[in-house]
Amino acid sequence: MAQEGLKISAHLVRGRKKIPIDARYNSKYSLLIRSSNVNPFTDGRKFSRLVIHLNGEDFDLGPCQLISEPNIDGYDGRLIFLEDVYDLQSLLSDGRTVKLQKAFVNLPLVLAHKEKIRQSFKGYTANLTYDLNVYKSFFDKMDAEYSTEPREIQHFVQEAIINTEGRKFMRFLDDKLNELEHLVADFSKEEHECHGFYFRKQLWNIIMCSPLMKRTNLKPRGYAGDSEMMRMIYSNDYEGESTFSKLMHKHPSEQPGAHAVRNRRKLITQTLTNFQGNNPTLPRERLKVLSVASGAAVEIEDVVVLPEDCEKYHFILLDQDRAALHEAATLVGQVEKRLGAKIEVDFLNGSVRTMLATRQLTERWGQFDFIYSTGLFDYLTPPVAAALIGRFYRLLKAGGEMLIGNFHVLNPSRVYMEYWNDWVIYHRTEEEFMDLLRDAQPAEKSISFEDTGCQMFLHVKKAG
Ligand SMILES: C[S@@+](CC[C@H](N)C(=O)[O-])C[C@H]1O[C@@H](n2cnc3c(N)ncnc32)[C@H](O)[C@@H]1O
Repeated sequence: MAQEGLKISAHLVRGRKKIPIDARYNSKYSLLIRSSNVNPFTDGRKFSRLVIHLNGEDFDLGPCQLISEPNIDGYDGRLIFLEDVYDLQSLLSDGRTVKLQKAFVNLPLVLAHKEKIRQSFKGYTANLTYDLNVYKSFFDKMDAEYSTEPREIQHFVQEAIINTEGRKFMRFLDDKLNELEHLVADFSKEEHECHGFYFRKQLWNIIMCSPLMKRTNLKPRGYAGDSEMMRMIYSNDYEGESTFSKLMHKHPSEQPGAHAVRNRRKLITQTLTNFQGNNPTLPRERLKVLSVASGAAVEIEDVVVLPEDCEKYHFILLDQDRAALHEAATLVGQVEKRLGAKIEVDFLNGSVRTMLATRQLTERWGQFDFIYSTGLFDYLTPPVAAALIGRFYRLLKAGGEMLIGNFHVLNPSRVYMEYWNDWVIYHRTEEEFMDLLRDAQPAEKSISFEDTGCQMFLHVKKAG
């Protein structure tokens, strides 16, 4: 951190007295200080103001107190704020005085939000909250009951509970979801947003019990569908600390939308291996395959199953998220180890927006035999999506193919995703999806669905 150990020019005020100090950045919300004269400050000493001098300006940061700690590089202790808590990192890096309490400015607005909620929805949410808390207390009580059993026995007991009462609870969740879908069926986009926000505030503690829903709601990497989230969906396991958590995690991963994600992995594998089968390459020639927004590219494991498959492909994986590419590299390493052969893979860390802005992309990257992208177009506005498909098309070799995935407007998991998971994406009709080809004039184009019907795939072939 740039501020670590930074010396700060400051003084304290106590009564009418101005006390010069030596100060040093300690943490975002505390400073290390010592008195500039010989007498050290005593523990708990309060001051009416801390004033920091920065770039010719004085910043008055209000009342503070010393918490003494011996032996911190000769400082008397740490200075903490007593009223307004200031972010010293923002102050020192950009000269901005940001109070930790600033979020409370929005409090009246957020509290008033409930006035916009339909009474029937309030009733539904209140009953659901009550029921879920009752279920939670029953499952937690059972967990406590067998918590002293040996680990292995705990595992079997939990499995038995999951298979009996747990599955009944999942059916209860299904029924409540049906009820929710009916309740919001005629809502406008604004009403969905507004009621979804209220729903999540009411059920926040329950949502936080589910590792999957916690992640989609908190979005630690800034968006819901990150590669860790994808791992959870692909593995479709009971994850979580308690039985209740495990059930709340498994329920969303069993929704049709999650099945559709697992299905698309199979669909890419099938389409790519069929393409490879129909386009056998010469020895030492590989099909150049570009995956855009690759995530951890788990499908590579299904495409490359035999040592000789390694020689058939050259994968280029593009993703904006370094962590996702790192996971992809780890997976590729595991497959290589298993097969005892090398897979040719290039990792491109970048955004599709850069791809759109880059001139002469074909000259730089060359052309590809096969381009695919899943889990990306559901986030792109029509103009960006159309421009990108146009780019992909130009990057395709003659005779090449591309496969793009997008959730369909009739996705039955839409309400679940939006209300429980705070996961809002662009759903499209077939016509809207086809219309994204406006910048390309392909010889052959078709739309197909995976088995759940949640997700459609635009399959394009460039004339040979
Ligand atoms: C839902 S995941 C899909 C990953 C993978 N294609 C799959 O189907 O499992 C979405 C991925 O898109 C990437 N992504 C999102 N917006 C992007 C952008 N503008 N440019 C490049 N990658 C992007 C994310 O980092 C994430 O890894």
